[in-house]
Amino acid sequence: MAAKRSFHQVAKQVATRTLLLSDGKVIPAIAWGNGTGGLAKGGDRAVLGGQLALEAGIRHLDTAQSYHTEAETTAAIGATGLKRSDVFVTDKISRNTFKGKERTRENVRESVINSLDKLGSKPDLLLIHDIRVPDQGKIPEFWRYLEEMVEDGTLGGVSLGFSNFRPQDIEAVMSVARIKPVVNQVEFHPYVYAHLEPLMELQARHGITMAAFGPLTPILRHPTGGPLKPVLERIGAAHGLDPASVLLLWTVQKGVVAVTSSKSEGNLRKIGAINTLPDLSLEEITAIDEAGKKIHFRFYKDHMTKDFAAPDLPEDV
Ligand SMILES: NC(=O)c1ccc[n+]([C@@H]2O[C@H](COP(=O)([O-])OP(=O)(O)OC[C@H]3O[C@@H](n4cnc5c(N)ncnc54)[C@H](OP(=O)(O)O)[C@@H]3O)[C@@H](O)[C@H]2O)c1
Repeated sequence: MAAKRSFHQVAKQVATRTLLLSDGKVIPAIAWGNGTGGLAKGGDRAVLGGQLALEAGIRHLDTAQSYHTEAETTAAIGATGLKRSDVFVTDKISRNTFKGKERTRENVRESVINSLDKLGSKPDLLLIHDIRVPDQGKIPEFWRYLEEMVEDGTLGGVSLGFSNFRPQDIEAVMSVARIKPVVNQVEFHPYVYAHLEPLMELQARHGITMAAFGPLTPILRHPTGGPLKPVLERIGAAHGLDPASVLLLWTVQKGVVAVTSSKSEGNLRKIGAINTLPDLSLEEITAIDEAGKKIHFRFYKDHMTKDFAAPDLPEDV
């Protein structure tokens, strides 16, 4: 699917902030996702968005079965003239592909093979989208099915991980894992930092890198902006950056992959620029930590606080 846009050649080599996963793979720390902003139905808009993101210097695309954008993710790479190997692709196995079917070994395999067909290649990283993708209480079995596909070559070279997993869900995987998970993608920003610190500690013990979706929630979705607003503005003003760029820098400096999105060329340029901006100072990072921990505000509510209690903090001060 080719987007209707003439496009100049995208530089193959760009400076990219990266993190090292525990299996030795290098992951670009700034990712562009096509699961939000009206892109999740796929089509030309998702291809064009991906092209623009790559043009802006982003080298990590985030898709999922439920976004219906797997083919568009690959098409976006093709449309830029970049090679598939120039870009890191994260994909997710979502609930919708099972349509009420049990998650048997055969059905999980079929779902994954459908994704490989749509992508036209293997993703670099494949995540279980959330804890309801496996049948209830069957996270270990589901993990084993994925491991078997890595071991038989179907998913050879693909790193495995999950998304929206709480400590107890991670322990369920670790109780059986022959292939260690490398990433947990969760809603992550300063307003959930106090809640997620124990999760980060557990993940650090198991070598699991955090990836942040919704990293711009404090400025986009909190009703007032909360206590971070003046802090982000002050730090931004000191560096000539907008609050979004400050938040994204904070995220990657925490050792977390920032999975953001945009359809605006101007914002995409700012997101791509994170790759080459100087770090925030330790004082600035600490000021953001402290302002963030004054409240607890989560946008994607779902199950993350079920049996993993959120801190007793207000939603605003
Ligand atoms: N695993 C999961 O369960 C899960 C859940 C949700 C999302 N995700 C993934 O994470 C991706 C990002 O999620 P998200 O949309 O919640 O991320 P986000 O980073 O919190 O928000 C993205 C929004 O930020 C805006 N933006 C970007 N740069 C900006 C700037 N400089 N100033 C002001 N606004 C700016 C964009 O709007 P403009 O278009 O106007 O720039 C875009 O709509 C999704 O597409 C998806 O791939 C995963």
